[in-house]
Amino acid sequence: MKQPHSVGVAFSIPFSLFFFIITLAAAAADISPGSTLKASNPNHTWTSPNTTFSLSFISDDGAAFFAAITYNGIPVWIAGASDPGGGASDSSASLQFLSDGNLRLVNGSSSSAVVWQSNTAGHGVSSAALHDSGNFVLRNATVSVWSTFDNPTDTILPSQNFTVNEVLRSGLYSFSLLSFGNLTLKWNNAILYWNLGLNSSFHSNLTSPNLVLQSIGALSLHDQSLSSPVAMVYSSDYAEGSDIIRFLKLENDGNLRIYSSVKGTRTSIVRWVAVKDQCQVFGYCGNMGICSYNDSKPICICPSMNFDPIDPKDSRKGCKRKMNIEDCPKNVTMLQLNHTEFLTYPPDIPSQIFFMSTSTSRLNCITSSPCIAATSLSDGTGRIYMKFPGFVSGYRSPTLPSTSFLKVCGPIILSPSVSSPRRSDWRLHARIVLVVVIGTAVGFILLEAGLWLWCRRRSSSPKFGGFPDQYAFVEYESSAPVQFSYKELQCATKGFKEKLGKGGGGLGAVYKGVIANGTVVAVKLLEGIEQGERQFKMEVATISSTHHLNLVRLIGFCSTGRHRLLVYEFMKGRSLDMFLFSSEEKSGKLLSWDCRFNIARGTARGIKYLHEECRDCIVHCDIKPENILLDENFNAKVSDFGLARLINPRNHRYRTLTSFRGNIGYLAPEWAANLPITSKADVYSYGIVLLEIVSGRRNFEFSWAYEEFERGNVMEIADARLVDDHKADMEQVMRAIQVSFWCIQGEPSKRPTMGRVVQMLEGIVEIEKPPAPKAVEEMSAIGTIVNGRNVERASSSLLRSEHKWSSDC
Ligand SMILES: *[C@@H]1O[C@H](CO)[C@@H](O)[C@H](O)[C@H]1NC(C)=O
Ligand SMILES: *[C@@H]1O[C@H](CO)[C@@H](O)[C@H](O)[C@H]1NC(C)=O
Ligand SMILES: *[C@@H]1O[C@H](CO)[C@@H](O)[C@H](O)[C@H]1NC(C)=O
Ligand SMILES: *[C@@H]1O[C@H](CO)[C@@H](O)[C@H](O)[C@H]1NC(C)=O
Ligand SMILES: *[C@@H]1O[C@H](CO)[C@@H](O)[C@H](O)[C@H]1NC(C)=O
Ligand SMILES: *[C@@H]1O[C@H](CO)[C@@H](O)[C@H](O)[C@H]1NC(C)=O
Ligand SMILES: *[C@@H]1O[C@H](CO)[C@@H](O)[C@H](O)[C@H]1NC(C)=O
Ligand SMILES: *[C@@H]1O[C@H](CO)[C@@H](O)[C@H](O)[C@H]1NC(C)=O
Ligand SMILES: *[C@@H]1O[C@H](CO)[C@@H](O)[C@H](O)[C@H]1NC(C)=O
Repeated sequence: MKQPHSVGVAFSIPFSLFFFIITLAAAAADISPGSTLKASNPNHTWTSPNTTFSLSFISDDGAAFFAAITYNGIPVWIAGASDPGGGASDSSASLQFLSDGNLRLVNGSSSSAVVWQSNTAGHGVSSAALHDSGNFVLRNATVSVWSTFDNPTDTILPSQNFTVNEVLRSGLYSFSLLSFGNLTLKWNNAILYWNLGLNSSFHSNLTSPNLVLQSIGALSLHDQSLSSPVAMVYSSDYAEGSDIIRFLKLENDGNLRIYSSVKGTRTSIVRWVAVKDQCQVFGYCGNMGICSYNDSKPICICPSMNFDPIDPKDSRKGCKRKMNIEDCPKNVTMLQLNHTEFLTYPPDIPSQIFFMSTSTSRLNCITSSPCIAATSLSDGTGRIYMKFPGFVSGYRSPTLPSTSFLKVCGPIILSPSVSSPRRSDWRLHARIVLVVVIGTAVGFILLEAGLWLWCRRRSSSPKFGGFPDQYAFVEYESSAPVQFSYKELQCATKGFKEKLGKGGGGLGAVYKGVIANGTVVAVKLLEGIEQGERQFKMEVATISSTHHLNLVRLIGFCSTGRHRLLVYEFMKGRSLDMFLFSSEEKSGKLLSWDCRFNIARGTARGIKYLHEECRDCIVHCDIKPENILLDENFNAKVSDFGLARLINPRNHRYRTLTSFRGNIGYLAPEWAANLPITSKADVYSYGIVLLEIVSGRRNFEFSWAYEEFERGNVMEIADARLVDDHKADMEQVMRAIQVSFWCIQGEPSKRPTMGRVVQMLEGIVEIEKPPAPKAVEEMSAIGTIVNGRNVERASSSLLRSEHKWSSDC
């Protein structure tokens, strides 16, 4: 029961090179009742007047035949494709347009072996025609009674009207349009793994929406209640080229793509894809299968040797247990899969979500008999997905912080058997090669192409994605970061092309990059690191073991020769200083008070986690707006933590002291005063940042601010633009100002801990009136005058105190 569009290759329409289609140039007039197409005569076709489309029998293996409408040899509609048999017929099959108006596909000569039919007998159908649009229509004297556009299979052509009553299907996957205007992809009519809704600015209820693929490459939503069609999606070659036909196809890999195909070329190029990360398509690797990447190609593996592939020739069929859990009630163990998650989408989410720690989730699952697997997201939310018997779809990537557990019977077997089955479909490989060649030729300028080719050759690093076999070995310690080679990062960033910013004050530039599974990352080139590789790796391990919603996540690192790089998750919304101090009026990006308060609270929580909650406590030493990044929802994420210990102390000292002298800055007075640095130094910096968040002004004169506060002029301190708006919660503003004065107390012991700061901000504890913070000039009198020698002393005191502090923690 194999369909001609067999294997879903992420890049190309998998049409076979073996189609026996010869498009006859004969212009087709209307097809009259009584006409028949025979599978035994592949040259016999019904074509559209200008020969763009044709209806004929196709076959890719000479055994199963399909009656299909094709364009450039690519099937765009298949008779009976949604039926259980997929429309497969034999070599003596025929497609009959009967005199009663029925269109019927039958096997052999026996009329009883009906494979598929249009059920249009008795409607007075008198003619049939394949139009230049690709629509095959059965008409009676007045109207179209039946058409392929109204009965689509897996493809939508330009000018085709896709309504809420229609559905595209491919295997277990389906694509449909909801009456709310949402585009959705579902697995098995149940699990919704992709949803694209109308922008929230369209509040009106739709009456009868329909989706149209415009020939220039936009997928637009039409409805009576919309003043004009809304473009939901644009293909990357939007409005380009002539003689191109575009089509939207749901493929059997569960992904929806827009392709462009130039007439007569027999190739098609992907111009848009719904699920960018193929491994996030639910069920792509079958039940118990785990999706992963080998270079940029998705592959399917089994969780461990306790499992066997169901079909050794097709790894996408999933895996089965060698021994069922029911057969060994006393001998169940938990297989731990690091960097792995079991996909959980609606409607599963509410019933399967729990909040607990990773180790508790493991215990809970092993002791609860219905639980078969669990995923701890480890993203700082504390979320756990529990899986009960049913379909389990896995995704493994070094960039995922998640840890998963899977119940298995008996001892865990990790090492592979001597020989394991492998996919060896040479046609598939030929297609990939073909597509890669085309892809290269099209997109890249010469230099980039060179770099890219070089990257391809080198990127089969065994550490990243490439597995020695079909099994997901427990390769990394749960929290261990991924080690990249310098070459890999050079490739990921296209030779360090796109600079994101200067980063943590001279620590080195940050570049945008894309790693193998398509994750966008920020790559930081560290300068002046003189530590040995071992120590560097230890520090990196500490940093990457800290996961919190309000901390930027470290994905990996590179330590090759003298190069030291860190790879972070990419933040869309830039850093806080851009929003606070740039001319927001111009960019229209004035942060509202709610947003600012949320950022202040998030930042405080992030720092609190660093100080109090993570395994190896960290003093940040460099809190400032540049190191507070915002994601697309304006959630604060603290970056560059843990770097203080990495940097060459000499450089660091120089840097901090210049910034100290250059402006009042974010540094606590103890830096200049040569006193031990503790977590209270971060509290001080946070206090300054908080004052800036409230006021929207940099280099704040806080003795003036305190005077205003004493006089009760809180309005004077707060950002005038917020006050004018009357939208700010003045009680919150007051609280924030008081908290910041507590934080910037000269005496470290007077400052609250970060945990206390969070409580004060949230209004959980009463805030006493803060005493006046002393100005920095007065504070520096405590220490000695800043000069070259003291710089040295300060540097050694930093290291000492930090180490002391860490061990205290
Ligand atoms: C028609 O023939 C195909 C190919 O041999 C077979 O798979 C299918 O089951 C047959 N259908 C019917 C209705 O006999
Ligand atoms: C054509 O088909 C439509 C819909 O089935 C039907 O209502 C109409 O009566 C038919 N016209 C003729 C002439 O048979
Ligand atoms: C055939 O008709 C289609 C649809 O109208 C059009 O897009 C295409 O350019 C035409 N091809 C030729 C060769 O005229
Ligand atoms: C598309 O379908 C909708 C709903 O059935 C209908 O209202 C609309 O007129 C159709 N548009 C075209 C161009 O056929
Ligand atoms: C439609 O999409 C929007 C935006 O993605 C989403 O919030 C909403 O829940 C979706 N509605 C349905 C019924 O899925
Ligand atoms: C919604 O659409 C409007 C107008 O098309 C656009 O200005 C706005 O940015 C969109 N909002 C989002 C969240 O995409
Ligand atoms: C949209 O439909 C919902 C439920 O049918 C209704 O409550 C709501 O008032 C409608 N909104 C508009 C703007 O018509
Ligand atoms: C558990 O499995 C191991 C290995 O298969 C076996 O040696 C042991 O006897 C089993 N224990 C029980 C209680 O079944
Ligand atoms: C990964 O790709 C390489 C090169 O294409 C291949 O040799 C290797 O077998 C692949 N690994 C798996 C597990 O598919």
